[in-house]
Amino acid sequence: MTQSLGQIVKKLKYLQSAKKTSTGKGGSGVIKFKSVDGKWPSKELAALLPRHKKSLTGGAPLLRVDGAKGPLWFLQGKDLEQKNHYGYFSPSPYAMARDMVAGVFRQALAAKLKSVKVEYIGENEEEFLGLCVGLEMTSYKFSRLWPESSSQLPQLVVKSGFKNHGKLVAEAQAVGSGANLARFLVDLPPNALNPTSYEKLAMETFKGLKGVRCSVWNHKRLLKEGMGLHLAVGQASETPPCLIHIEYRSPGLKDAPLAFVGKGITFDSGGLDIKPPSGMRLMKKDMGGSATVMGLAHWVAQARPKVNCDFYLAVAENAIGGNAFRPSDIITAKNGKTVEIHNTDAEGRLVLADTLTIASRKKPKLIVDVATLTGAIKYGLGSDTPGLFSNDDSLAEILMSSSQKRGETAWRMPLVPGEKSRLRSEVADMVNCTDGFGGAITAALFLESFVEGVPWAHFDIYGWTGKTSGVFRHTGGNGQLVQALADFVMTQAK
Ligand code: BES
Ligand code: ZN
Ligand code: ZN
Repeated sequence: MTQSLGQIVKKLKYLQSAKKTSTGKGGSGVIKFKSVDGKWPSKELAALLPRHKKSLTGGAPLLRVDGAKGPLWFLQGKDLEQKNHYGYFSPSPYAMARDMVAGVFRQALAAKLKSVKVEYIGENEEEFLGLCVGLEMTSYKFSRLWPESSSQLPQLVVKSGFKNHGKLVAEAQAVGSGANLARFLVDLPPNALNPTSYEKLAMETFKGLKGVRCSVWNHKRLLKEGMGLHLAVGQASETPPCLIHIEYRSPGLKDAPLAFVGKGITFDSGGLDIKPPSGMRLMKKDMGGSATVMGLAHWVAQARPKVNCDFYLAVAENAIGGNAFRPSDIITAKNGKTVEIHNTDAEGRLVLADTLTIASRKKPKLIVDVATLTGAIKYGLGSDTPGLFSNDDSLAEILMSSSQKRGETAWRMPLVPGEKSRLRSEVADMVNCTDGFGGAITAALFLESFVEGVPWAHFDIYGWTGKTSGVFRHTGGNGQLVQALADFVMTQAK
């Protein structure tokens, strides 16, 4: 069921333009969300309250009434106690509003309503942003866009009392559609998304956007640049590896850019160290880090923050063949270090290593990489919590704060110095991985050794949701960290 690339691109454009034409036959729904500090102004509620007092005790929706034209949902924001220790995971106002509204908007979508009006009552911009991102992200469903694009979304009208209402809605739409783009890329089947089509998609997506330039290093260029590790991973695939570079420059700004690097393994079979079936089943998502980086770049192109950014997508397919790289191979990296391959399934760190060298040498202000790097991280933190490794405490702190604020809470992990000796090789400068304990830590230590004098952070993500809840109407790519990193970029902007 391979579709032509042109068709995929058409879907992407549809996704980005987010035009919502209603084909629903149902009635019109109304969602009213009241902030803790807001006051219900509506006469309807006053009339309904005595009859529905019992339903007013928490839960989402707080109250649902079936009106003559359609359902009417009343939601009341929660008064959140922000604890800074054990309660670190208590939701932010943004996350609370996003997830509560998503819960009822899912019902509205399931009811195939013709239109939905959403009214925010309150003055908390964070809550309102979360609410709008929730609506945008809940609207996404892969099967609506692929293989045929069918519009079944209700017409959506959002109201609030903010003076900068339009700006806030646009901001949220840019974040939500960036996350949806990342989800779409992960959801694409691996026979449609391979290194060659990925490159074309990126070029098409960023074509003509102001201040943005997308360029690609093809196989020949990777050879010329001496990117031995990246090339080795991709050498058995029918579609050769590439490095996608998206550059965003804010007008008149000469400052060093922020650099973002994503792991883009379009399918990870494990290579000659082949994965068992259960381990291979979801490996189309092994480009999830690069999808997040591309979704973030798309947000940057819309939001146009006053900060320069470079986005690198290290793309390859870890395939099997007579010319595949092998355990015991010794490969020379871009920076001249030699790496003895211990396991071909530890391929993500190899493609990232050479790209970290390239990114470092451009002298950015900082580097953040995002990767579905290890299976080990999910045993420690679960699938929803990314592990954050960093060689710079203040960078880590800002990233942790953005991730908590945007309801994508990460957890800091240590770069245990003593573990580094486990990456020693007898025949090369290092091995690519270790057996046994602390797999996420040794993987991060491997990456760190390719960073050249730049503050650096690494997110080890899962990139996939197995649950259908909140903004996720189906299992699939989750666009993990697009929201958090968008907030982070704003903290770095002038
Ligand atoms: N892409 C996988 C990591 C992964 C597995 C992420 C499952 C999410 C879910 C990565 O390339 C890999 O296979 N890593 C190995 C490393 C090992 C061979 C040292 C792992 O984690 O098992
Ligand atoms: Zn692997
Ligand atoms: Zn992998």
